[in-house]
Amino acid sequence: MHFTFPTDNQDLASLRVDLCAVLLFEGEHAESPVLRALDQALGGIVLKLLEEEQFTGKKTQCLNVHSHGKVGATRLLLLGVGKRKDFQPSDLRFFAGRTIRTANSSRARSVGIVLPELDAAWAERISQFIVEGSLLGAYQFDRYWTGERKRPSTVAEVTLLTQDRGDGVRPALERGAVRGEAVARGVMLARDLVNEAASEMTPIRLAAVAEQLARDHGLELEVLGPKECSQLGMGLYLAVSRGSTEEPRFIHLTYRPKGRAPRRRVVLIGKSVTFDSGGLSLKTMEGMMDMKMDMGGGAAVLGAVGALARLDCPDEVHIICAATENMPGGSAYKLGDVLRSLSGRTIEITNTDAEGRLTIADALTFALNQIKPDEILDLATLTGASTVALGPHIAGVMSNNPEMTGRLLGAARDSGEDMWQLPLPDRLMDMLKSEIADLKNCGERAGGCITAGLFLKEFVGDIPWVHIDMAGPVQASKEWGHQIKGATGFGVSTIVEYLIPR
Ligand code: BES
Ligand code: MN
Ligand code: ZN
Repeated sequence: MHFTFPTDNQDLASLRVDLCAVLLFEGEHAESPVLRALDQALGGIVLKLLEEEQFTGKKTQCLNVHSHGKVGATRLLLLGVGKRKDFQPSDLRFFAGRTIRTANSSRARSVGIVLPELDAAWAERISQFIVEGSLLGAYQFDRYWTGERKRPSTVAEVTLLTQDRGDGVRPALERGAVRGEAVARGVMLARDLVNEAASEMTPIRLAAVAEQLARDHGLELEVLGPKECSQLGMGLYLAVSRGSTEEPRFIHLTYRPKGRAPRRRVVLIGKSVTFDSGGLSLKTMEGMMDMKMDMGGGAAVLGAVGALARLDCPDEVHIICAATENMPGGSAYKLGDVLRSLSGRTIEITNTDAEGRLTIADALTFALNQIKPDEILDLATLTGASTVALGPHIAGVMSNNPEMTGRLLGAARDSGEDMWQLPLPDRLMDMLKSEIADLKNCGERAGGCITAGLFLKEFVGDIPWVHIDMAGPVQASKEWGHQIKGATGFGVSTIVEYLIPR
């Protein structure tokens, strides 16, 4: 897909494209100069149609009009973007995605996107989110489609018309486009990894993906197998892997900024359970159905690292994926087992389905001991309880450090990924008390998301740490703008926004 940003005075009526989307703010469309010009060219039918269809510009309202050759665009897509006061540049990702998807369904090759008048200071973000949304809107997971169904996306040319004419904004538009493409590539990689079937996307395959990333971006890679992990003493992580015939792989990728001292050293841990059957605390059939997505955190950090490298991140960034399956095989870890963690603390297993926190706990200790980071961020599809608390689209954020939390939530807001902070009250530590060991791995039903966070907090010490429980937003149950049904690639854009200053 190729993007152009004409900054000369290009008029809409002569823009020759198969489909042109016009984005309109709620309540402002009647005065929109763009719409008036279109209306005139089409003999007054546009405004009439909008009125008849009660189009007010409400967010996601949308009308598809054929121009019958009266303007350069064959089809017009009028898109409501909601109230100006509620608008965020990241909303453009949704609208660009919807535009490309609509264009594809009519097999369009060239697309125009016309924006309403926006703050010129937003130019970089605007082009970033248009590029990101367009690329993601064309994304399909079509590996397993055959015959008629296999139809590659058709859109090849996207022209963005902003109201800010003049070359002043050009550098910002170009910068944004580079950023948008880097993020979209990361998101698409994450989606591919999550959408792939669990029998394909095994721990060994995930390590191969890391190897490819290392080659492509000049990263350092360390992969530990079960022997090395056992020598180190990762008793929790290895216990989870024991019930599976697939070998675990502990993946550690390092990105270092080229030719300069790193600003700080950051560890990103992604939960990488490539299939979560629940183990001996076996899930129900429905509960197990989507559990190939239980490596969504790992997919996000692997997707992000490519973007971080391409965008010249100023931090040294360590990616850790403690990849494993959680299966109920004959050697599976058992209820009542007491495990010794890498940190030395002992854990009584009261539920083998609370496995993610075990793998991450050893990864946290590894990070503290071997990397000595300034801060740690973990992303994990950790608890169904997070979706009970926050719904399917919002990730839960827990932390030991308000300052880091503030920065992370700011990055999430700017990148348009919904996150909400949850508390980590000491009082609930009672639920993790064990008679026989230092801690139990599972609390009660009430506060399930929080006790999982509290468990992890026991392994981070004083290092600033943020935990993101993304069990809900890792996948979408239906298509939505730039998202398809299935994996969303959640987390990638927040990580990039968090680590790459503008
Ligand atoms: N991978 C699941 C969490 C999950 C559930 C993610 C649903 C996405 C959708 C995790 O390992 C798990 O099984 N958590 C348990 C925790 C319980 C045993 C305390 C859960 O959420 O039921
Ligand atoms: Mn589980
Ligand atoms: Zn899990």
